[in-house]
Amino acid sequence: MSNQFLWVIFPYVCMAVFIVGHIFRYRHDQFGWTAKSSEFIEKKQLMIGSLLFHIGIIPVILGHVAGLGIPKEWTRALGVSDHMYHMGAVWGGGFFGVVTLAGMLILTARRFTHRNVRKLSSASDMIVNSLLLFIVFIGVYASLVTNNLNPGFDYRDSISVWFRSLLIFRPEAGYMAAAPLTFKLHILSGFLIFAMWPFTRLVHVWSVPLNYAGRSYILYRRSPAKAGKR
Ligand code: HEM
Repeated sequence: MSNQFLWVIFPYVCMAVFIVGHIFRYRHDQFGWTAKSSEFIEKKQLMIGSLLFHIGIIPVILGHVAGLGIPKEWTRALGVSDHMYHMGAVWGGGFFGVVTLAGMLILTARRFTHRNVRKLSSASDMIVNSLLLFIVFIGVYASLVTNNLNPGFDYRDSISVWFRSLLIFRPEAGYMAAAPLTFKLHILSGFLIFAMWPFTRLVHVWSVPLNYAGRSYILYRRSPAKAGKR
């Protein structure tokens, strides 16, 4: 029963809250949809921490998509042996995981110890920061330490199969039963952050100003009155 709750009900509830929460927030709180920059209070630590976090998290996300989404048989068919994949995941994932962790440590220390940044922060900012730090720490720990302590365990044979079973709406909680505790904690806290996402500053992720790079320096707009006459 608890397996069903943790590995079927909980993940689906988190993802439902993630989707419905975003729709709700977008419809009711567009003016509050912001990253709430604190750059004008403290710049240096923010720049280093944020840069490290973002440089690390993008390859880590791509690693998750590959490791959780692509079955072993497919990578084998492409000529990538399980050992090669594992080495790539441990060294590549480990490296970018540590970069992400370093960024998160700087950002969290800054938020908790810089007096004015702390004053500007809401409870939600503090919780999101701490939870992200926990997720990243335990993910790196699972990847670099737990994997080495349990050489017989391969997350691609268990966690990844479970994850894909959720995606196709035929959940198989049993695949998670033998996963080490650190992986379990990482995944549960990972889903929890998805449920919190729409109600926090994390919504800024969906508002990256991609058109900014290509747009002209000065934007000329037709006066609404003249445009109306035409
Ligand atoms: C919610 C579903 C998630 C699942 C199923 C999941 C699964 C995993 C697994 C299986 C590993 C170990 C990979 C290995 O041993 O090579 C891992 C590592 C890691 N995860 Fe996650 N994760 C999830 C969410 C997240 C989130 C939300 C974050 C960041 C905010 C995150 C950050 C990391 C990091 C930094 C590592 C260590 C580096 C790496 O191996 O890529 N994960 N995750």
